[in-house]
Amino acid sequence: MKGVILAGGLGTRMLPLTKITNKHLLPVYDRPMIYFPIQTLVDAGIDEIVVVTGGHYAGDFLNLLGNGKAFGLNFINYAYQEGEGGIADALRLAREFTGDDSICVILGDNILENTIKPHVDAFKAQKKGAKILLKEVHDPHRFGVAEVDGSGKVLSIEEKPRAPKSNLAVIGVYMYDAHVYEIIRTLKPSARGELEITDVNNAYLREGSLTSSTIEGWWTDAGTFPSLYRASRLVAEQVKPELKENWF
Ligand code: G1P
Repeated sequence: MKGVILAGGLGTRMLPLTKITNKHLLPVYDRPMIYFPIQTLVDAGIDEIVVVTGGHYAGDFLNLLGNGKAFGLNFINYAYQEGEGGIADALRLAREFTGDDSICVILGDNILENTIKPHVDAFKAQKKGAKILLKEVHDPHRFGVAEVDGSGKVLSIEEKPRAPKSNLAVIGVYMYDAHVYEIIRTLKPSARGELEITDVNNAYLREGSLTSSTIEGWWTDAGTFPSLYRASRLVAEQVKPELKENWF
């Protein structure tokens, strides 16, 4: 299985910070944001990784990450997204690298407390189709939201619904077989002008080959000011547990 980290976009929700750097290079407590998704993949046993990025600061990823020595890697692959086409459009660019292999995609601003290895191993056993990971949140309208029946089967997924059918967010970690690239080719841009990853997941749902698991431990995105602040705090408390009792 190969790993794909999506770290493009203009980060307009985080201006003016993103005027002078890429969102995924901003600090989360003691590390650049992009360190977290890389470590998550490496900890899951995935060491063939492509970072898809774009914009004015793409070169800075190379300066920072090089060949991935900080993560015990010998090589990191890079792909460049021209323009702004959304998450599924960025994923298209990984095809050259991932070929017929199955992939684990992680959004560059997603940070998890725990390893995803058990879920990656479950998907390896599943062999075909797709797997999404879910987490209960108090603000589901900010995310893709899954409606799930009593047995854990996904019934529907809606992107940023006004009236969420559950409090289960679809987190930014997705596992796909190589069929994903054919699905992306059939997508139409959404109202926000992007090829949506939720539409990819719904295509697998319609084909009856989508599974889901709910993750343990905390998860956060870091793509808005409140969530970046939250992420920094969660990481800080993981690195230095004594901070929990004694912040300022
Ligand atoms: C994206 C996806 C959304 C998912 C979220 C996880 O949202 O579109 O379905 O729940 O990532 O971080 P965005 O970051 O584009 O708002």
